[in-house]
Amino acid sequence: MRGDPIAITGFFELAVGTGRWLDYAPLMGTVRAAGLVKTFGTVGAVNDLSFEARAGEFLTLLGPSGCGKTTTLRLVAGLERPDRGEIHVGDRPLSSAASGLFVPPERRGMGMVFQSYAIWPHMTVFENVAFPLQELRVPRAEIRERVMTILATVGLGDLHGRPAPMLSGGQQQRVALARALVSNPQVLLLDEPLSNLDARLREEMRFELRDMQAKLGITSIFVTHDQAEAMTLSDRIVVMNAGRIEQEGSPEDVYQRPTTRFVMDFLGRANHLPARIVRADDGSCMAEVEDSGFCMPLGGLDAWQDGQEVLLAFRPEAVEARAAERDGVWVGVVRSSVYVSGHVEYVVDLGKFTVRATGPEEARLPHDTRARLCVSPRAVRVWPRGRP
Ligand SMILES: Nc1ncnc2c1ncn2[C@@H]1O[C@H](COP(=O)(O)OP(=O)(O)OP(=O)(O)O)[C@@H](O)[C@H]1O
Ligand SMILES: [Mg+2]
Repeated sequence: MRGDPIAITGFFELAVGTGRWLDYAPLMGTVRAAGLVKTFGTVGAVNDLSFEARAGEFLTLLGPSGCGKTTTLRLVAGLERPDRGEIHVGDRPLSSAASGLFVPPERRGMGMVFQSYAIWPHMTVFENVAFPLQELRVPRAEIRERVMTILATVGLGDLHGRPAPMLSGGQQQRVALARALVSNPQVLLLDEPLSNLDARLREEMRFELRDMQAKLGITSIFVTHDQAEAMTLSDRIVVMNAGRIEQEGSPEDVYQRPTTRFVMDFLGRANHLPARIVRADDGSCMAEVEDSGFCMPLGGLDAWQDGQEVLLAFRPEAVEARAAERDGVWVGVVRSSVYVSGHVEYVVDLGKFTVRATGPEEARLPHDTRARLCVSPRAVRVWPRGRP
């Protein structure tokens, strides 16, 4: 895996933080990246990326494999030099391609945890976490105090003497976190740190990580391709695609109000129906689903022209399937249904389209029966067709 050797070197460089331990209080750093570009040969990994992780914030870079998340994090850490663009923490410039400024990783005051935690098997928990401080020749008594404090914070206080190989995956992950935090970094960078854990532990660690981050108030940039992880952990999410930002916002924003089809599809399941705008003489405006009589009233009237082709996009939970006696508008046929934690999810044939819908478990509709689809217009996104 490409990450392994890099992970270890990266850690050595980063963990050997900024020097003064006893009186070092973490500054609340805002990380600002502006116009970052990074190309490897002919591969454009990061393409004009600008974002801000505000002081104390938990910011997530979310996107599919290969979209440039790790590269972005490594640019922030100083493990890569940008071809273009600038990085600041607070007022302090760390990297500027234009002026040639480049602060090396060990002087950036950042802690980093990688997907492969890269903890050392021949050392105990204590020794693993103490290592960065020993490298800096911090006095022994101070090392002991700092290490025990951070181990207590990550819930490993009782295990300080245990050899690293005798730890569970979750415990190893916590050692890696403690080691990244022991130097009181200003910023914490996390590259898919939970992806090696099994599903249940991963979920548990999500909450622990979030708790701890909030307690420490440390500005954190977290990288994942897992939308559920991003939704539960983040103050804000930057959705990336092919080296660029598609959208950024709160988890609710990007989930409920996606601005592109890519974001809509990447963050969850979605229905997409091609439709045409129909404007009435009184100025009201409807979207009529193609080749059917299904209409939906629209807001934002000025945005649309009569006859314009659009795409209606909405999530399954925005459509409720109810029993229907007769054929009619928005009436389809139930093709399949599954029970999912407290409600039923349906696949309904609606004319030539298939719509995913939901309904209450106590009124589950049998297969091949008619279902009326009640769509909440407020939850429908309308995009000009042909837009990505
Ligand atoms: N050192 C490198 N040399 C050549 N190409 C690279 C290098 N690092 C990254 N790339 C390429 O840059 C692009 C972005 O890679 P990156 O590792 O940042 O993606 P990612 O979003 O972290 O993906 P994943 O979710 O799979 O970890 C990919 O096409 C990758 O192959
Ligand atoms: Mg990656």
